[in-house]
Amino acid sequence: MKHPFYVEIPLSFDRITGIANCSKPALERRYSDMKNMYFDEEKRKEKEKGGNNLIYRFYDLGIPKKEGDLAFGTSIIYPGKVGNEYHMTNGHFHTILDTAEIYYCQSGHGIMMMESPEGDILYKEMKSGQVIYVPGRYAHRSINISSSETLITFYVFRADAGHDYGSIKEKGFRKLVVEDGGHWTVIDNPRWKNYE
Ligand SMILES: [Fe+2]
Repeated sequence: MKHPFYVEIPLSFDRITGIANCSKPALERRYSDMKNMYFDEEKRKEKEKGGNNLIYRFYDLGIPKKEGDLAFGTSIIYPGKVGNEYHMTNGHFHTILDTAEIYYCQSGHGIMMMESPEGDILYKEMKSGQVIYVPGRYAHRSINISSSETLITFYVFRADAGHDYGSIKEKGFRKLVVEDGGHWTVIDNPRWKNYE
């Protein structure tokens, strides 16, 4: 049976790389795509000039953005840091704010950082085989805290939820995940902007 939209069946995501066996490429985010997202902007600029490597990749498979459909794909975050802050995704709220999302950690070691508009903070460590349930209303960002492994998560959310990246670009997350003495730790974000 022909599937009614883009996704080719059967679709698979490589266990090691997270890359899908479809003709639609994963979207890429490099140092140049994350201006002012890290605490140490000077260090980010250095990384941009020094090769501008990939920070992460993720899929938008073109699932119709309508009620009843489910968008899904992998998020692939390469190990590394900007200053002492681990590689991470931009992070977003859903435009339909009260929309949850499932993240299944396929491989690697990460943190899912979550915060509500009211300032409630949740963060969960994730390792291979573990599932994170991101509740509705919470912005979410994946962070790779491994020094050597790629963090690969498989995500699913309602396809019409939409992404609000602007709020996070503007204000940042209230908390940062940084390396301190060889271990990850969560600190207040000195650059977080509270306009309320
Ligand atoms: Fe999301």
